[in-house]
Amino acid sequence: MSEALTRAESLIRTIPDYPEPGVLFRDITPLLADARALRTVVHAMIAPFEGSFDVVAGVEARGFLLAGAAAMEAGAGLVPIRKAGKLPLPAASVTYALEYGTATIEAHDDITSGMRVLLVDDVLATGGTLVAAHELVTELGGSVVGTAVLMELTALGGRDVVGDVHAVFTA
Ligand code: PRP
Repeated sequence: MSEALTRAESLIRTIPDYPEPGVLFRDITPLLADARALRTVVHAMIAPFEGSFDVVAGVEARGFLLAGAAAMEAGAGLVPIRKAGKLPLPAASVTYALEYGTATIEAHDDITSGMRVLLVDDVLATGGTLVAAHELVTELGGSVVGTAVLMELTALGGRDVVGDVHAVFTA
């Protein structure tokens, strides 16, 4: 790993017992607040896919922070994948299982047939969110050319369900 990436990784803060006891929360806000680190990680997220996508689709909410920057850096468009009830004209909707209950994500029809989409999120944990996001893009006719996350939590096995994911950092 480059010195710049090592430095950026050191800015991710680990907070025990948040949002509930037993959970180690990875807080990326110190990294986002550092101009050099932000640019370094955004570049590392999109580098393998350069020139292969038309839009970046980011998953609410923390995925938006990186997806917007990635879209600007790549000269691509930006499509928000939102949690249920936040978009006025959802064209597709996917419901997926959480540990307790379900969650639903939605998108507008700004993803059109044949559009090449790079999926972006901050963290890959169990993989449920990114599998659902992939399904959502496909339902709209888009083609997922890649999936990029800032951090993969390997113990949770998300890669087994999502498949090929480019993770800048692993923990
Ligand atoms: C977090 C994270 C990913 C997702 C990963 O989002 O930002 O989107 O969980 O988990 P998974 O791989 O097990 O699906 P969260 O729903 O906590 O929301 P936030 O981004 O709005 O904080």
